[in-house]
Amino acid sequence: MKRLTEFDQLADPTFSQAVVDWQRSHGRHTLPWQNTRDAYRIWLSEIMLQQTQVAAVLGYYSRFLERFPTVHALAEAPSEDVMAHWSGLGYYTRARNLHACAKRIVHDHGGVFPSDPALLAELPGIGRSTAAAIAAFSSGARAAILDGNVKRVFARVFGVGEYPGAKPVEDALWRRADALLPEGGGIEAYTQGLMDLGATLCTRSRPDCPRCPLRERCVAFATGRTAELPVRKPKKTTPEKRTAMLVIVDRGQVLLEQRPATGIWGGLLSLPEVGGHAALDEDDEAFDTADLAVAAAQFGEVDEVRALRPLVHVFTHYKLHIAPFSVALAARGGATGRHLWWNLDAIAEAPLPAPVKKLLVELGQPSLFAQ
Ligand code: ADE
Repeated sequence: MKRLTEFDQLADPTFSQAVVDWQRSHGRHTLPWQNTRDAYRIWLSEIMLQQTQVAAVLGYYSRFLERFPTVHALAEAPSEDVMAHWSGLGYYTRARNLHACAKRIVHDHGGVFPSDPALLAELPGIGRSTAAAIAAFSSGARAAILDGNVKRVFARVFGVGEYPGAKPVEDALWRRADALLPEGGGIEAYTQGLMDLGATLCTRSRPDCPRCPLRERCVAFATGRTAELPVRKPKKTTPEKRTAMLVIVDRGQVLLEQRPATGIWGGLLSLPEVGGHAALDEDDEAFDTADLAVAAAQFGEVDEVRALRPLVHVFTHYKLHIAPFSVALAARGGATGRHLWWNLDAIAEAPLPAPVKKLLVELGQPSLFAQ
């Protein structure tokens, strides 16, 4: 008996048939880039539609074609003119690539778009999915698309429980997309059908499952997981660090330290720190008041150290857990070059990092103490 390959196992002719039938009866048929085999018009629409919805593209598309009716007209146009006709559509790299691609078509391909998706994918701004769409619509090439909408449809129908943007997941989706292509024609209706499904029924929020031709085979529908699939991009975990800050207050003044000119809070004044910005470890113990009393002794004779309420400050690259300690002195020590006493009633004017200033402004409120 013939052994089934993964490709065979993924194949299912009833899938494409359901999409094609639905597209023919319920899909979109009158968009301005449909009902043509003109690769220039199809290519332009696919680039404009890459990160932009149909409704936003329509006006730009017709104005663009009026000004640049052929790939030659576009290739010869000054770039400012091209950019002006793209202005407002966003993602301007698309416009620069579009212009570069038009020049390549004219100079390297005799003004004719290749029909082979692999050749199309070598041109500026044309990725694998866009190449397949252009080739399918302009010459009936049997090539698979996999844009964001199609990933969503597949993730739901096949119950893909991992983030579809992850490379191995995306590779597996491409294999599926290839295996599911219709065998005997209908690639245009199939390709358009997947796009239409993703844009009109299988939307990110509130998908219209009752109208979906894939409902009976949809894992997400069967298991009530349309809201969870596709899985969202996992958030990067921000590193966490910690530091202790000494709030040394004496006769209405607080001791501040000049921070180094570069690095975090560069050039500002701040509170003296102990164990500055070390990586936070799960089994880190709390700072010890006895250790902090030793550290504070450089600033005078320490009377008492008390923990204040901890706070968290979020930078773009890490989260800093700040453990502030109030230090009462029996006597001030000698001054050092990097330290100065600042009147607490003028603390608002001090060049301090925001969380430190907030802490000092709130000083004196009893709720500030840890217990
Ligand atoms: N999105 C990307 N390509 C599209 C097309 N050809 N029709 C409608 N929406 C699309």
